[in-house]
Amino acid sequence: MSTAKKVDTSYLTRPDCKDLDHIPGTDGIPYFGESLKTIWHMDKMIEDHYKRWGEVSRIKILHQRGVLILGVDNYQRIYLDKDQNFSAEMGFAESIGQFYKGGLLMKDFDEHKVLRRLLQTAFKNEAMMGYTPQMNPIMAEHLKDVDKQPNFQFFPFIKQTLLDVGAKVFIGEEDPEKTAKLNQAFLDINDGLLGQIRREIPGTRYYKGKQGERYLRNYFAAEIPKRRGSDKEDMVTFMCNEKDENGEYYSDELIIPQSSFLLFAAHDTTTSALNHIMYYTAIYPEWQEKIRQESLALNKPFLEYDDLDKLPALDLIFNECLRLRPSVSFLARRTINECEIGGHRIPADTMLFLTPIHNHRDPQYWTNPEQFDPERFLPERAEHKGHSFCFHPFGGGAHKCIGMHFATMLIKTFMHQVVTNYEYSLPAGFKPRFEWAPLPRPVKLPIQWKRRS
Ligand code: HEM
Repeated sequence: MSTAKKVDTSYLTRPDCKDLDHIPGTDGIPYFGESLKTIWHMDKMIEDHYKRWGEVSRIKILHQRGVLILGVDNYQRIYLDKDQNFSAEMGFAESIGQFYKGGLLMKDFDEHKVLRRLLQTAFKNEAMMGYTPQMNPIMAEHLKDVDKQPNFQFFPFIKQTLLDVGAKVFIGEEDPEKTAKLNQAFLDINDGLLGQIRREIPGTRYYKGKQGERYLRNYFAAEIPKRRGSDKEDMVTFMCNEKDENGEYYSDELIIPQSSFLLFAAHDTTTSALNHIMYYTAIYPEWQEKIRQESLALNKPFLEYDDLDKLPALDLIFNECLRLRPSVSFLARRTINECEIGGHRIPADTMLFLTPIHNHRDPQYWTNPEQFDPERFLPERAEHKGHSFCFHPFGGGAHKCIGMHFATMLIKTFMHQVVTNYEYSLPAGFKPRFEWAPLPRPVKLPIQWKRRS
């Protein structure tokens, strides 16, 4: 069985570099640094850094000092990483790496290439065509009586819907009891990520998260041999049946972490995006009506793979939501060697905090950047083409989101059912409160549904 070619990862154990005093910026308040601002006002916090210190500034998020990087050219350089100096593995080691070690994003360079090839099999056209028919009935079941639910909140609803979609499409699990256990394990892991105590002490979030991690691991270890040679059409089975350039199956040790990481990478991101799409189309009913008319023109209850290009207004809205409130609002890299960015010396082992928020609202590229204006993505305006890195909700370079088209497909499949079955709004006078972390979303979204006759 194939294993990834080993690369030198000794740099992962090098000590943290504290030599950042020469970079202008702030350590924020004791212990928290700028974390609290990050949760509630990330956009304002970032603009404040930019106004005071420019594109490169010192920042501290909880215990971690690092450098906040803004600006289109800096992103181009870091994402494309010609000198292989910006490690995602080192960047994420202390956050998501605690629970998703070995996942695609936590690998760099040659090892990353091998794994990316493995995961690609789940996103080929033939595979993608099989996912919509699996998603549609699950979404329909969840949506069938939303109008009858008292005190409806969109966030818990969409989380549960997408967990069930994930269990089927990503994992291929049919048994509702096992699905519930898998979903719980996954939720425990993500809750564990937020725990401040990083030791397995019973009663802590971290402890529960580690139990969830072991549950998923054991589940996948038991499933992989059963899936080899099976004709099931879920992502895990596709990976189990993929062979490397020597015609051998990829090892279980490579597949297991990819299986849980895929769930993670897909779930919160699409949850966040759908929360914003629902919010903006509820407060701008003219946009809701545009996507409804597009969907009604297809004259079918369920979207099919070939219909994906037929909903251009929904593309505009999706892009505009990702511009204003990108689902992945903070990314991490760490420098392997000393380098220079924006005229500042950046020592080796420095944490770089990246965020699309500033570039997505830079008035040099965007007219009235704070305004919700999906038409800015129309071909005749194409503001997103002002620079290759003024719009990068899916990242860029080697780690660019592998699930980008899947995300678009999922969102369209869901929204097609929503707008053809319902009209929806928010209560009069509703004032949203947005949070940015752990995932960007309006904290409450009390959607009011009206079934279309
Ligand atoms: C709105 C939806 C989504 C957004 C905005 C999004 C955004 C991103 C971003 C910004 C990255 C790059 C991270 C970095 O460079 O540090 C990324 C990577 C990744 N995404 Fe997504 N994502 C979305 C949905 C999905 C879905 C649905 C899947 C899987 C089905 C997925 C799987 C992945 C994976 C596996 C990676 C790591 C790629 C690599 O390291 O080569 N994403 N995503």
